[in-house]
Amino acid sequence: MQLARFDIDLFLRDHWQKSPLLIRNAWTRWRNPLEPDELAGLACEEGVESRLIVRDGDALTLENGPLPDSRFGELGSGPWALLVQAVDHHAPDVAALIEPFRFVPDWRIDDVMVSYATDGGGVGPHYDQYDVFLVQGLGRRRWRVGPKCDAATPLLPHEDLRLIADFEATGDWVLEPGDILYVPPGYAHDGVAVGSDCMTYSIGFRAPSRAELVEGWAEHQADAMAEDERYADPDLTVQPHPGEISASAIDRLHAMALDALADRDAFARWFGLHNSLPKYAETDWRPEQPIGQETVRALLRQSVPLSRNPASRFAFIRGQDGALTLFADGRGFDCAGDSAALAEALCAGSSLGVDPALAGSAPVLTLIAALIDQGSLAFEED
Ligand code: SIN
Ligand code: CO
Repeated sequence: MQLARFDIDLFLRDHWQKSPLLIRNAWTRWRNPLEPDELAGLACEEGVESRLIVRDGDALTLENGPLPDSRFGELGSGPWALLVQAVDHHAPDVAALIEPFRFVPDWRIDDVMVSYATDGGGVGPHYDQYDVFLVQGLGRRRWRVGPKCDAATPLLPHEDLRLIADFEATGDWVLEPGDILYVPPGYAHDGVAVGSDCMTYSIGFRAPSRAELVEGWAEHQADAMAEDERYADPDLTVQPHPGEISASAIDRLHAMALDALADRDAFARWFGLHNSLPKYAETDWRPEQPIGQETVRALLRQSVPLSRNPASRFAFIRGQDGALTLFADGRGFDCAGDSAALAEALCAGSSLGVDPALAGSAPVLTLIAALIDQGSLAFEED
């Protein structure tokens, strides 16, 4: 499915990370990619993150999945909403919804969350830290969007949900199938199903927090440091007050801490590894036995295409002279020549036909075998 009636450059200029946007009838031809029953089935599976939010008058209660099969039968006709994370890992037609949004780089993608709600169901007024495209899939949902919130925004007292206390909408629309609402990080929003069988697909993007970067990068660097890398003061002289931590000592300590974090190339590699860690490891594609280069060679010669594990995150960082580092599922692969070209092709799409001539390239065989052995990739065999 493709986006139509949507100007990417104008969107990036005027709305991305800046202000909400309603896009009516955004697709060339909209078709709802998942049945409500399939979503309910996923919510009952172990290893799939799901939430059920039931409304009783003004009160919302949260139940975390996996839900027992019997739970849906007990719900009756009142308002409730079911939300399932990372449905793109399980349903190829849902994963395909990400494709039109790849004007945003892959490393920013979080997942596609899918919600189902009965009349009046919703998760209440809240804000998220992420950019999200809310695609109306089935039925209708009334979205109200409010101002930008922050840590000072008053919340309602609630054990499990972060609901905004005095939500006042500045925009109010009923979305029909195929309509999209873009909400930047921090903007208050509240979606309530209008009528039954309301399904919404949230294509969510992530942005690392400064705390996550500092903590992860510093920990990574610290792990590699020797015990004897220490403060040293062979030039020590007597200072006027023994109780003072002198400015020169602080300068030296501060430089020790910052210098250890300043290596940009090492940071790039760490970030690539960190960013490619899978959020959910439930879709395990690791073969029982290592595939072996001979098998890889034979299958490439037969032109068997490769598929990426939908739960795996692929990205690359360019180096010098056409070399690059490919990142997948928390591992980095240094590639050059044929293997670099293959790595770029792997990062371009979820499925790949490989030129059989590459069956003769040892670096290509090594890369493919390593990716298959760690469960990031598989040959598309019947
Ligand atoms: C929903 O689909 O019901 C909620 C999505 C969101 O508000 O982020
Ligand atoms: Co939200």
